[in-house]
Amino acid sequence: MKILITGGAGFIGSAVVRQAIAAGHGVVNLDALTYAACLENVASVADSPLYHFEQADIRDPAALARIFAAHRPDAVMHLAAESHVDRSIDGPGAFIETNITGTYILLEAARAYWLAEGRPESFRFHHISTDEVFGSLPADPDVQFTEDTAYDPRSPYSASKAASDHLVRAWHETYGLPVVLSNCSNNYGPYHFPEKLVPVIVLNALAGKPLPIYGNGANVRDWLYVEDHADALLTVLTKGALGRSYNIGGENERSNLELVRTLCAILDELRPGPRPYAELITHVTDRPGHDARYAIDPSRIREELGWRPSVTVEEGLRRTVQWYLDNEPWWRALQDRAGVGERLGVSA
Ligand SMILES: NC(=O)c1ccc[n+]([C@@H]2O[C@H](COP(=O)([O-])OP(=O)(O)OC[C@H]3O[C@@H](n4cnc5c(N)ncnc54)[C@H](O)[C@@H]3O)[C@@H](O)[C@H]2O)c1
Repeated sequence: MKILITGGAGFIGSAVVRQAIAAGHGVVNLDALTYAACLENVASVADSPLYHFEQADIRDPAALARIFAAHRPDAVMHLAAESHVDRSIDGPGAFIETNITGTYILLEAARAYWLAEGRPESFRFHHISTDEVFGSLPADPDVQFTEDTAYDPRSPYSASKAASDHLVRAWHETYGLPVVLSNCSNNYGPYHFPEKLVPVIVLNALAGKPLPIYGNGANVRDWLYVEDHADALLTVLTKGALGRSYNIGGENERSNLELVRTLCAILDELRPGPRPYAELITHVTDRPGHDARYAIDPSRIREELGWRPSVTVEEGLRRTVQWYLDNEPWWRALQDRAGVGERLGVSA
């Protein structure tokens, strides 16, 4: 299958690109190369005859029409987005433009191409979204997000992703575009851009800097290893039912404080410092509107598609820490980019 992957130079998109090529699929990586992109993430497959790169913006209809016509993909996996909640608080405009308007322009380009090809039923537009569209859960462990949970986004980022989900469903219902959707929990793993929680903690610890925890650190997230997520996404693309959405989780709920303490313990073992790294933990001003808890009920993807995560969060974090220890040139090069290392998202 030939897959047009948007955002393939980002964190999750690049994992999908690498796995899709390894599985023998053709890949067209369409990415605008924003501050969050890094072509090093796909360097291991860049010379493959199965791989093509197109630098383009999903808000550019002419570029999209040219790329669809030139490559004639069998499927689209749409991951391009502005993805950092803190940046969405400081500058929501880019999130509205890329996540909502960009998704609309991509849907229209995909629809025009699909019509020109004679409306093949086998075509798929796979929209990749987040569990944050469902809002915030109480602490009760029996309450989790299902695919039927009502949308209740609470940040500019999650509101923009919710809007994009609605557009994708509307293009299916109204125009018959063959779509599938997935909403996943917090990803972590190799190639994670150094402004997100896990790399911030690892890299600050290695530099002997404070380890910032927003508020009291009690906010609970489900943690999904990025390679598991990429595997789940290819499963949803190839086996998912038309028009259906799938929640993807790691079956690993942890509070932010627990997660950071686990990272510190792994670092104490793999790269011992002068004192236990947990002594660097520092509580800082909370994020405005910080959601208390996200939790995924993964029954549908498990029962209908037979997919489960392969690693516990402890194992995934160990692999991740080791990867950062082994790949210093990768993260050093990204630390100079605008906003990286600064506290963002407190201006509300
Ligand atoms: N990271 C997570 O934990 C997580 C969780 C749930 C859902 N998601 C979703 O998964 C997708 C990928 O997330 P990520 O963490 O890999 O993001 P990322 O920020 O690492 O990568 C996004 C990529 O999209 C590209 N991009 C941005 N705007 C573009 C535009 N206008 N045109 C073309 N390309 C553009 C960037 O250059 C970058 O390579 C996003 O849709 C995000 O909402 C992420």
